Amino acid sequence: MAEPVTESPEIRVETPEPAKDVDGSRPGQKRAREPIFQLADVTVSYGEKRAVREVTFDIAKHEITALIGPSGCGKSTLIRCLNRMNDLIPSARVEGKVVYHGQDLYGPDVDAVEVRKRIGMVFQKPNPFPKSIYDNIAFGPRVLGMKGEMDEIVERALRHAAVWDEVKDRLKTNAFGMSGGQQQRLCIARCLAVEPDVILMDEPCSALDPISTGKIEDLMIDLKREYSIVIVTHNMQQAARVSDKTAFFTVELDEDEKNRTGRVVEFDDTEKIFTNPTDPRTEAYVTGKVG
Ligand SMILES: Nc1ncnc2c1ncn2[C@@H]1O[C@H](COP(=O)(O)OP(=O)(O)O)[C@@H](O)[C@H]1O
Ligand SMILES: [Mg+2]
Repeated sequence: MAEPVTESPEIRVETPEPAKDVDGSRPGQKRAREPIFQLADVTVSYGEKRAVREVTFDIAKHEITALIGPSGCGKSTLIRCLNRMNDLIPSARVEGKVVYHGQDLYGPDVDAVEVRKRIGMVFQKPNPFPKSIYDNIAFGPRVLGMKGEMDEIVERALRHAAVWDEVKDRLKTNAFGMSGGQQQRLCIARCLAVEPDVILMDEPCSALDPISTGKIEDLMIDLKREYSIVIVTHNMQQAARVSDKTAFFTVELDEDEKNRTGRVVEFDDTEKIFTNPTDPRTEAYVTGKVG
């Protein structure tokens, strides 16, 4: 098993600013006891258009945080802020503060490549490389020059992602020969192989059948002992089953009534969101009255 990652990554900023205190800024909101991310007034725009605005909440260590809400409310946009994937979209602009382990993730000295190593991402559609199962896992550790016996690194990652037993006899075969559910666990293993701190998952099960979905959900619950996980899901049962905290987003008309922008309606313990939410819009959504 990989050692749990407990230390802050080597990300330095010249003048670290403390995160804004967000206490009380929204009903039901609490500060995380051990935050890994602190979002304060995060607004993301594509060109002139704001996609999601004024997002403020903390993401706690060793928890699963779910982002839910209707299509187009900015869940993918927001999750991409957490590992600077939006940097790769030329029109995207991030305002506000994303603090990671107490440091500004968008500070001038922060290396976005290092960030994406520490904060891995799994996408909706499994995206293995057109290579062998073994090489899919070994790729990252090789590029990063990680120390250790590669066979062990590969085995550990595949075991960790609960796919080893299914593939151990065909490690040299092409990853495209795996089922969709196995490919997704391979992608999770590929993420784990470089020993990340956080795993971001954007609708990781939406292309999978219910059995594969169940396996990924079990895996997530298992992984949160060592990692912090943020998941976007349109499956509310999934959010209720696996997550500790839930942020419910919706799309609102801006003050000028010209643009529709995603906003967080409510962020709280998952149990509260699903059983006794504070905002009537959350209640309508989680009970399926709107969607
Ligand atoms: N790369 C992009 N360029 C321009 N607009 C985008 C881009 N990605 C998303 N958007 C817009 O941002 C808004 C939020 O999208 P997205 O974050 O994908 O929402 P969700 O994941 O909740 O469905 C939508 O209006 C979408 O059209
Ligand atoms: Mg999305």
